[in-house]
Amino acid sequence: MILGVNIDHVATLRQARLGIEPEPVMAATLAILGGADGITVHLREDRRHINDRDLNLLREWTPVELNLEMAATKEMIAIAVKKQPDLVTIVPEKRAELTTEGGLAVQRNRLRLKEAVRRLKGAGLPVSLFINPDAGDIAASAEIGADMVEIHTGYFANSRGNSRDGELARVIRSVQQAVEAGLKANAGHGLNYVNVGMIAEIREVRGLYIGHSIVSRAVLVGMERAVREMKALMSRADGGKET
Ligand code: PXP
Repeated sequence: MILGVNIDHVATLRQARLGIEPEPVMAATLAILGGADGITVHLREDRRHINDRDLNLLREWTPVELNLEMAATKEMIAIAVKKQPDLVTIVPEKRAELTTEGGLAVQRNRLRLKEAVRRLKGAGLPVSLFINPDAGDIAASAEIGADMVEIHTGYFANSRGNSRDGELARVIRSVQQAVEAGLKANAGHGLNYVNVGMIAEIREVRGLYIGHSIVSRAVLVGMERAVREMKALMSRADGGKET
């Protein structure tokens, strides 16, 4: 099971002063030294954290999976086709949100997403859709030609007690449904050092995409150690296999 580290918040800190530090490329380097299998950045329409220059440098330099999160807009599709990340994850994007709030409404936006997937895949890019743990959206994702889905784990991460058991079951069911539909299944959002084990135990999951919790720990203990500790938890939950 791979770990993709989302470094958007490193850029958020830089943008707090509109300056040059901390440098996302350095954060990516240290994350990789700590064992990250991939680096994720979300290039937003308003460039509030990661910007085009960051994407250019990361594309030139990143020796592991570079996952570009983006909305399915004309502008972003053109950037992805030109920059050739190793994976494109399509997410819904609202200007005022603090972070991605929910999964894509794949069924409602079927035609628009199908066209985006077609154009990206036509340029040789594997495409993942960030979706809620919902059977209809999983089936629609397979039908419109996505290679992978990333199941939104935020509902699980934000729930407690019995409702958490229910949300975990929903994630597990969704991962299995996705795999049965011929999709690769990733998971992400809201995962942290306490809850990651429950998701890393799901054998069919290809990869976890984690940002906020790792960058938060990195502020205190350093990026390399923060990533190494997350990988160790994943590895333990995964039956002690090397991840
Ligand atoms: N996956 C997707 C699609 C996301 O939008 C985000 C947040 O940028 C993440 C994973 C990482 O979520 P978190 O920062 O809560 O770990």
